Amino acid sequence: MSSSIQKIAVFTSGGDAPGMNAAIRAVVRAATYYKKEVFGIMRGYEGMIEDEIVKLGSRSVGNILQRGGTILKTARSEAFRTVEGRARAIQNLRKQGIDGVVAIGGDGTFTGLHKLFEEYNLPAICIPGTIDNDLAGTDFTIGYDTATNTAVEAIDRIRDTALSHNRLFFIEVMGRHSGYIAINSGIAGGAVAVIIPEEQMSFESLFNLLQEGGKTNKKSSLVVVAEGSKLGGANELARLVAERSSYFDIKVTILGHLQRGGAPTYFDRVLASRMGVAAVEGLLQGKTDVMVGIRNNQMVYNPFHEVIGHTHEIDPESLRIAKILSI
Ligand code: F6P
Repeated sequence: MSSSIQKIAVFTSGGDAPGMNAAIRAVVRAATYYKKEVFGIMRGYEGMIEDEIVKLGSRSVGNILQRGGTILKTARSEAFRTVEGRARAIQNLRKQGIDGVVAIGGDGTFTGLHKLFEEYNLPAICIPGTIDNDLAGTDFTIGYDTATNTAVEAIDRIRDTALSHNRLFFIEVMGRHSGYIAINSGIAGGAVAVIIPEEQMSFESLFNLLQEGGKTNKKSSLVVVAEGSKLGGANELARLVAERSSYFDIKVTILGHLQRGGAPTYFDRVLASRMGVAAVEGLLQGKTDVMVGIRNNQMVYNPFHEVIGHTHEIDPESLRIAKILSI
């Protein structure tokens, strides 16, 4: 593949996600395959500004495919939002002769890279890595499958004890702005209700649903609540239900950051591997200012302006199924 790009840097930024290491490995090995030099930038944009740039090769990414987290570490950078911060970052990249970058992260990561492209014309490609699955232009983001499986496993365990004690559990899963983990772990875990930021639901309708369960001799119930629920988090909803009725024996579990760690599933490893190769090949073919995505099982390249600030809508069909099956 002929391309003027000779030195590619890869970094991870924003919240980590299982499968990021598999993506780093794929970028490094694909670049090496095409006889390019590869660098890793530590701690995302922070490391770009602080000149924490290391040389990588095929062997430096051995034995990381199956590991959660990111060997390159990650950070959220305030300094990169400033013109001065970005000027320092580009200086450091140029010092190493880096002429193409691959970022693995979410919306914030892409916004930063888009700025670098606009201001310095730096060839740049992003790979969607976030457990939230909230990015437009891709059916799946790296880490989402693993995080949802982690949530389902936790829900199954909670179900055992909920049933033994005839209890109502409010289980809070991650998703500050996105209900993807909630809706699909709710369906897979048999939740009586799923509360997500994207759907308007009244407290009254939730309460009625729970009462209906009581009437049909439902012994225990699980409600899955996305962190970003507009109706209130799991603690808040538990408090409101307890205020209205003493019928329920209520408990709350907040799954939190355990959803961000752990070995990636086969799905996330393969997705990350495909996206890593697609990112390098895209860069070498002259694609820039784009995010790699998967659509109908095909790799696609989406212009940043079609991704940044746009959301990946929840399929109304998922909501319908969750409702039908909760009776
Ligand atoms: O990675 C995305 C996400 O997990 C959100 O769902 C969550 O709200 C947020 O990150 C938490 O981020 P932090 O680790 O900075 O608290």
